Amino acid sequence: MADTDADTISARISPSCPPETQRILTAAWSHDLDTVKKLLDTPGRASAQDPVTGETPLHAAIRSCGSPSEDDDPADLEAASKTVYELLLWGAIWNDVDNHNETPGCVARRLGRTELYELCVNAGVRAEMLFGVLEGYEELGSQASDEEDGEDVDMGGDVVIVGEDGDEAPELVNVEETKSNGKAESPDEQQEQQEVEDQEDQEAEEPRFQPPVDATQADVTSEAYLRSKLTYSDGKLVDDEGNGVMMAWETDIMRQSVDELLPGREPGKRILNIGFGMGIIDTMFAETKPARHHIIEAHPGVLEHIDSPNSKFGSAWEESGPSPGAFKVYRGRWQEVCKQLLAEDQVYDAIYFDTFGEDYSQLRMFFTEFIPGLLDPKGRFGFFNGLGADRQICYDVYTKVVELHLADAGLDVDWKVIDVDMSQLAEEGKGEWEGVKRRYWTLDKYRLPVCTFLG
Ligand SMILES: C[S@@+](CC[C@H](N)C(=O)[O-])C[C@H]1O[C@@H](n2cnc3c(N)ncnc32)[C@H](O)[C@@H]1O
Repeated sequence: MADTDADTISARISPSCPPETQRILTAAWSHDLDTVKKLLDTPGRASAQDPVTGETPLHAAIRSCGSPSEDDDPADLEAASKTVYELLLWGAIWNDVDNHNETPGCVARRLGRTELYELCVNAGVRAEMLFGVLEGYEELGSQASDEEDGEDVDMGGDVVIVGEDGDEAPELVNVEETKSNGKAESPDEQQEQQEVEDQEDQEAEEPRFQPPVDATQADVTSEAYLRSKLTYSDGKLVDDEGNGVMMAWETDIMRQSVDELLPGREPGKRILNIGFGMGIIDTMFAETKPARHHIIEAHPGVLEHIDSPNSKFGSAWEESGPSPGAFKVYRGRWQEVCKQLLAEDQVYDAIYFDTFGEDYSQLRMFFTEFIPGLLDPKGRFGFFNGLGADRQICYDVYTKVVELHLADAGLDVDWKVIDVDMSQLAEEGKGEWEGVKRRYWTLDKYRLPVCTFLG
């Protein structure tokens, strides 16, 4: 049934797999829904993992379908979908990776099981949307990470589930309320309770899966980036860790973004660009002869580059504007500068957002809190869409998540799909990636967002 030796049940369930995990992996593999349901009465079991292969029940239920073939049994495929659905319902984690660095969705996509892939994408969207809603809530560690029968059950999930027997409906619990219940009596008990609470606080602070805006790398923080030393060289801008901040291969994406944000490249428009980088998009914006062209940039190294004698955006450019302040580089973080722009009642026909070292929450904050005030009612807003771009399923999940959040902010999004020439981008450390720490783009299609106000 399965495609390669690596996809066989004997290869995926290791001899050292604990019996309870083995049982659910086997039941999921054979799409035995009744047994799966019975085994799911233990919290955490939906996400149990083989300690050697990292196989989860979701991986197993999908992998065992193999690629579509004439031998496909419709009844078994239906059972597979139901098994996957049931596992997701009981907290199976959509983005757990196995020892081949594949999520269950990656396996479904590789095998060409579109329906199962869509189930995984939808689960990812639900999980990511819940994270957004659940600020102030966290997982109940005591129930989620219990060790069962010597089996290390790591929920690692994000939905809070309450219910002693696992049959209860999932229910959200406010952590602050939970903590204030069951007061400790003796000093020893108080110390023990404090340690538990400290541990919970530490866990609550751990970052969740949240793709960086530029998908460039998850381990860069904005503060560290803004302190880093930058190098402009040979078609790229890198920080002192070797992270690619901006690369020339993105030029076509910038060009097409300008075409979409300024249809017909009409002159006389009011433009705001956030993140100067290599100045690629600003050069294109400038060529349209705008009435106003504002740039926000925070990094001292980039600002120094802007001030250098060869720069097109130095003081001479600022002075060449049609009116005082019409062409201007705002020096600082957009989080502060945009408040000033709002206070000045600045409004733009086209706004582009492409920063670095910031995660999705910042992009969301930008379009939720600032776009309504800064964008003309008929204006267009775009951003560099590198959200989750190092893995197709993450890109697909984030396309839907951002679409929902944009709608929440009163914005409609049109995706223009662009082919990305991968000939020099296919291999880590080679071609365009030479000298760059991490290959942050892996996909042959870019979804270019064009956002306008709803209605
Ligand atoms: C990917 S580059 C932009 C590339 C640009 N689109 C181009 O065409 O060259 C990101 C830029 O955003 C800047 N940046 C990062 N965080 C910022 C912030 N909070 N406020 C303003 N600029 C920021 C970086 O210093 C960098 O210059």
